[in-house]
Amino acid sequence: MIEVKGLTKYYGPKMAISQVTFRVQKGEILGLLGPNAAGKTTTIRILTCYMPATEGSARVAGFDVFEDSLEVRRRIGYLPENPPLYNDMTVTQYLDFVSKIKGVDGYDRKKKVQEITDLCHIEDVRDTLIGKLSKGYKQRVGLAQALVHDPEIIILDEPTIGLDPKQIIEVRELVKNLGGKHTVILSSHILPEVSQVCQRVVIINEGLVVAEDTPENLTSQLKGAERLFLDVEGPAQEVAQKIENLAGITQVTLEGSTRQGRSGFLVESELNRDVRKELAATIIRGGWGLLEMRPVGMSLEEIFLHLTTKEEEVDAR
Ligand SMILES: Nc1ncnc2c1ncn2[C@@H]1O[C@H](COP(=O)(O)OP(=O)(O)OP(=O)(O)O)[C@@H](O)[C@H]1O
Ligand SMILES: [Mg+2]
Repeated sequence: MIEVKGLTKYYGPKMAISQVTFRVQKGEILGLLGPNAAGKTTTIRILTCYMPATEGSARVAGFDVFEDSLEVRRRIGYLPENPPLYNDMTVTQYLDFVSKIKGVDGYDRKKKVQEITDLCHIEDVRDTLIGKLSKGYKQRVGLAQALVHDPEIIILDEPTIGLDPKQIIEVRELVKNLGGKHTVILSSHILPEVSQVCQRVVIINEGLVVAEDTPENLTSQLKGAERLFLDVEGPAQEVAQKIENLAGITQVTLEGSTRQGRSGFLVESELNRDVRKELAATIIRGGWGLLEMRPVGMSLEEIFLHLTTKEEEVDAR
């Protein structure tokens, strides 16, 4: 549905992205993940025909973004970083206006505006002037304008920015439900967001794609150790020393202590080696209290850092 090949963009002498290549299948939700200045918005602006690439090609729904930009735009719903809102229109007026430009006809328009107002939870402010809305509500109206004409393809540039935690959950849920029927690209610098919402992730750093996979594969591919969190009542140093000396344990990190003599430890062990029984026995034998023991997965955050750091090391060589 979306095919990006070797996209490169220079702003004057400054390289923003280089050789960005990926595909998105019909109905798939792809996450474009990267830190600030990685090149997410640049990639998205090219895909949505806002500016041409310096090199490379992109096809959306079979149309070239440079040669058939009208056909591409017709099929895309786009939420830019800063949604183009008209402050002196009410929410309903604005959505009616947008859907009119996007070719939703008469009877259908009223119904569509109503549906999208409910879906984006902006019923309460439908008659409020956009200029008077809070940032979070503006963001939701921005999302509504991207969806109102029921586009095949939806491209969202950081859709949850500026929202409160409850709204973030709602928007993530909403985006997740768009998959299947729509093809979605979502950019984000928030890792849990991408792993919750997307089926596949393209990680971009300093303009380069550094990884592309499912969130699950990225996690297991880079997982090099088993990790446990322990909450122990006992003298921190002594406990840490005892644990460190156990067979199969590779690292013990103290995660903080309380005045009541409780300490948290992050314990890493060799892959596929279950050290839990031995750990528990050691703590009990020491006469200490084992208050908690739970596995800790490697977060996408850590994988992301790992990938982006590795990239810098490669560059430095
Ligand atoms: N109009 C412009 N002129 C010059 N440089 C630009 C322009 N727009 C972006 N850049 C540069 O291109 C690089 C990529 O920017 P881009 O906005 O694509 O990043 P991003 O991943 O969207 O970041 P953010 O998370 O901050 O939105 C940055 O170094 C940025 O400074
Ligand atoms: Mg951006």
